[in-house]
This record gives sequence, C-alpha cells and structure tokens, in this order.
Amino acid sequence: MKIYKGNIIFAEVFGEYEIIPNGYIAVENEFIYGIYEDFPSDLDGYELIDFGDKIIIPSFCDIHLHAPQFVNRGLGMDKELLDWLEFYTFPEESKYEDLIYAKKAYKKFVKELWREGTLNAVVFGTIHRDATIELMDIMDEFGINGYVGKVNMDRNSPDFYIEDTESSIKTTLDFIEQSIDKYNRVKPIITPRFVPSCTRELMTELGEIADKYDLKIQSHLSENRSEVEWVKELHPESSSYYDVYKKYNLIRNNKTVMAHCCWNTDEEIKSMAEDKVFVAHSPYSNTNLSSGIAPIRKFLNNGVPVGLASDISGGHDISIRSVISISAQVSKMRWVYLNSDEESLNSAELFYLATKGGGAFFEKTGRFKEGYYFDALVLDDSNLLDINPRTLEERLERYFYIGDDRNIYKRFSSGKELKEIEADC
Ligand code: GUN
Ligand code: FE
Repeated sequence: MKIYKGNIIFAEVFGEYEIIPNGYIAVENEFIYGIYEDFPSDLDGYELIDFGDKIIIPSFCDIHLHAPQFVNRGLGMDKELLDWLEFYTFPEESKYEDLIYAKKAYKKFVKELWREGTLNAVVFGTIHRDATIELMDIMDEFGINGYVGKVNMDRNSPDFYIEDTESSIKTTLDFIEQSIDKYNRVKPIITPRFVPSCTRELMTELGEIADKYDLKIQSHLSENRSEVEWVKELHPESSSYYDVYKKYNLIRNNKTVMAHCCWNTDEEIKSMAEDKVFVAHSPYSNTNLSSGIAPIRKFLNNGVPVGLASDISGGHDISIRSVISISAQVSKMRWVYLNSDEESLNSAELFYLATKGGGAFFEKTGRFKEGYYFDALVLDDSNLLDINPRTLEERLERYFYIGDDRNIYKRFSSGKELKEIEADC
C-alpha cells in the first residue's frame, strides 16, 4: 500500500468538480483503495508520498485516434475529408507494411501519449496485422492501455492500400487470436474503417466476429457532408448512415464507439442513446477538415455517452488537455452561429468527458473510486501561478487553457509510475 497526498480533483457528477484540498489517495498494487479528506489513521505505517501543493487528477482518456497518422500531423489541413484521405492518409498508412518503419513511428506515437498524459486510448492501426501487434506490444511495454484495431477496408480504396474480403477477414481473425490474451490492459477491437470502405459481406463477417469474441467496435460516422451523401448512394436500402452499421450488427450495446458524428439526425441520435453508442468528440479534426461542429450538448441531453478524442491526424494536437479547450471554444461558436438552445460546454463538463465520460468505454479508469485502476497525473502548475491567489478550480482551468506537457510532474498507470520512454528518433 502507498498513500499519495496532494490537491485531488476528479469528476463524478457531470458539470461538477470533486475537490479535496490536501487529500489522500491510498493505492494497493494497481488499484485505488480509498480517497480521504484526512489522513486515514488505520493506514498508519504505510509509505506516504507528499506532493505538497501539486494537483492530482485522473489521467486522460482519448477514445479515437489513428496511430499511423501521427507522423502526418499538420499536413493536408487545407483539404476536406475525402481528399485528405486520398492524398495524405492512405499513402502514409500503406507504409506500415514495413515493420521497421512501423516500430519507429509507433514508438514516437506512444511516447507522445505518455508525454501528454493520455494513458488510455482507443486506437486505429492500419490494415497490417504485424504492425498493429507491434503497436500493441509498445503500448503494453510502456503502460499505455486501451483498445487497438487492425483496420478493415475492401472497397473504394486505392490499389496500394486495400484488402480483398477474404484476406481481410482471415487477417482479422489471426490478429484477434494473437492479441486477445497477450496483454493485461491492451485489447483488440473490431475496426471497419467506415461504411464507404467496407463491403456488405465484410461488414456482415465483422459483426459476427465481434459477437463471437465479444469484442468492442470502433468506426467513423457522419463526419462530413459529402461522406454522408456517398453512404446514401451506396446504401439506398438503409434509412440512415447509422442504420447501415446497425444492419450489419456493428452496433453492440455500450461497446461501440463512433468518431465525429457531426451530422446525425434526431432519429439517429435517439437510436444511439438506446444503443449506448459512444460518440468520440474530436473538434480539432472537425475544424481542420471543415467537417462541422458536432452537437455534443444534444447528444448529452439525449443520454448518448460522449468522450473526447484527438483524432490524430485529422486533429493535429494529441493533447486531451488541449482538446478540452477547443471543445469549449467550438461549442460557443455553435451556440452563437446557430442561435441554438444548446448551451455551450464548460470546463467542468469537459473535464468530466476527458476522464469519467470517455473512461467508461474502458475497464475501471477515468475515476478516483475504490477498485478502479490508479491511472493518474500529478500536475505542477507553479509556473502558471501569478501574484493573485487562485482557487484549485481556477488553477485547473488555467492548466487546460495555458498549460502544456511540462506541467505533468508524474504519470501513474495501474498504480505504477511511468518513466519517460526513450524513443530513438
Ligand atoms: N474516415 C475514414 N477514415 C478516416 C480517417 O482516417 N480519419 C478521419 N478523420 N475520418 C475518417
Ligand atoms: Fe478518425
């Protein structure tokens, strides 16, 4: 048992901060044993680590990003989705057939997750099985947890980056068999890229595989208006884009995450709430690729679970701290320009989405609660303090807006402190 002392802040109720100034967290092996306002005298004698005036928060959760696109950040940002995929993304992803390239790039990617305090993530790999396993090995080695998918795509894709249906299915089954029991907190996830790049046959098989192995599913939904039109043309038999995924059993209750969701209809939103589909809100990407502003307040009001996402490299910034502030900003613009009755999102609400909200997609993380993994960040914001006294709430808000990775003093994953990763490039 170890006891950590500091200013503890976490989110239990949407829109409220739980703040325990000079509080204590007891950690037994990888799990939280208890949270206390006063020193728990029954734990006297255990090692006490005093972080003084520093702030202890749950580590961040990113519920949608693409590992192979990390090296493409900040490129193609003047394009919209479909051109960006064709000219920038598919050519880069095709390189991951080369394992040496993959290993180098993935180590850099994992190091940046570490740097920014994202210790749980839902990640797209590429169509390549071996490179995706390599990515999982690296995440596991360095204490970054989450779900990783081998991407499936067997139509409307370039010759140099496409699978035939049969090999897509076979490679996916191999990928699952090789990874499902290999790691403690890194697990495979079924990953049809998006409807336009998967045939009906492939989607049917992937739905069956997800059921058979009881796997989670990740994909993209209603990101861009041309994409939504294209899906309508490809699937006139379906009543909506969301309905296509439903038809092929790719919506598993509480186990599917859909990225973007800028253009869903009210009817789709209702079904998504019933199905407990997670929306991965990625405002950097939605802004960069001129996709739109997702109606997050509406999703939340309707009971759809939401988490935050960097969507590297549609999004250029991997930091969820930074996604918190851009989420607030775009929600204000949505409110102003649509003259909407959907109120903008505030910092406390977004802190919730960045931790407990997105964390609900994983096992036991994102919260400071007995029995949960101790996945946490210790923040040193002393360089952000000025001549005025600030409350803990103000200090956290300032970290969201004007802080950076240098404010993360320590990172804990499964109760263990994570040391800096030496990436050799
Ligand atoms: N839709 C299909 N593939 C992608 C991708 O790689 N990034 C984003 N943002 N949208 C997609
Ligand atoms: Fe994406």
